[in-house]
Amino acid sequence: MTILAIDTSFDDTSVAVTEKSQILSNVISSQVKDHAEFGGVVPFLAQRLHKERIDAVIEMALKEAGKEWKDMNAIAVTYGPGLAPALEVGIQKAQELGELHGKPVYKVNHMLGHMASCFTEQAPLYPLLSLLVSGGHSELIFARSFGDVTVIGQTLDDALGEAYDKVARMLGLGYPGGKIVADLAAVGNPDAYDLPIPMLRSGDLNLSYSGLKNAVRLLILEQEPLDDAKKADIAASFERVAQASVLKKVEKALEMYPEVQQLALGGGVAANKHLRAILEKACTERGVTLLIPPTMSLCTDNAAMIGVAAWFGIEAGQQPVTEKIDRIPYLTVEDPL
Ligand code: KG4
Ligand code: ZN
Repeated sequence: MTILAIDTSFDDTSVAVTEKSQILSNVISSQVKDHAEFGGVVPFLAQRLHKERIDAVIEMALKEAGKEWKDMNAIAVTYGPGLAPALEVGIQKAQELGELHGKPVYKVNHMLGHMASCFTEQAPLYPLLSLLVSGGHSELIFARSFGDVTVIGQTLDDALGEAYDKVARMLGLGYPGGKIVADLAAVGNPDAYDLPIPMLRSGDLNLSYSGLKNAVRLLILEQEPLDDAKKADIAASFERVAQASVLKKVEKALEMYPEVQQLALGGGVAANKHLRAILEKACTERGVTLLIPPTMSLCTDNAAMIGVAAWFGIEAGQQPVTEKIDRIPYLTVEDPL
């Protein structure tokens, strides 16, 4: 089963060619530089750039895979969740190409794509837990099989990646700030400032980052003017408590679901080395295997994970789209496709 997969869920135009769970090509055309001057993603600029670039990205993905349209068995496309004007470009293109080349089109949930990014080299063992932490979502998922998932915890406000981006902005570090804050945190003192660990006593598996964001804002006001050393200490202190909160929830989830043998970590923040290290330790102590995307580019948005997710979905009985999609629904990871 060879699939051409498209993801235009946010600010990356990505097209991949996958064969079952194997990646033959994964081309990502980033819009980061185009949105940087606005300090965040501008929806209709994202849409215009996706439209301008998608054909060239498709051609590159086929070429890098050494394949032609006749070799494709299906097209997979991210259906949501994501930014509607951006998603629309990929969905329309997938349908247009499906018709043109006579290929079935499969819809893929973006968050299941992030989960599938862990399964390209290691097969999933169900039931499993998945922690998906990106710029738009923070979710803890219990998966009985691919597609049969329950969200057991989620953020009540900002996503973890969004919290990193906001701290970066408050520290004047640019956008997107996750990696910049993480790099700075690596050279700072995580115990320099006493910030609260969010949701420590909430009694559930949910997360929340708006309170911490506010605490960081007040800390910055209190510490100004900031030199590089202070910025690094603030970044490190933020990272310590933001991740301590996630760790507590993961530990609690592993206790609640002792039958689980794997934890699949996906989403942009899965690129964070410190987060990987603390989760690895927690998993090892409990005899659980931590699955992570094998490369950094598979952590952040990419189409290869969508192709792999489509293949798992098809194996589980998912059917292709039969009617034209002309409306982008609000979608959660639990929505059936
Ligand atoms: O999955 P993704 O590419 O996009 C969404 O679906 O949202 O995730 C992007 C997010 C951004 O918020 C970015 O700041 C964050 O992932 N991120 C990181 C790191 N690399 C990317 N956050 C923390 N540490 C990193 N190394
Ligand atoms: Zn994503």
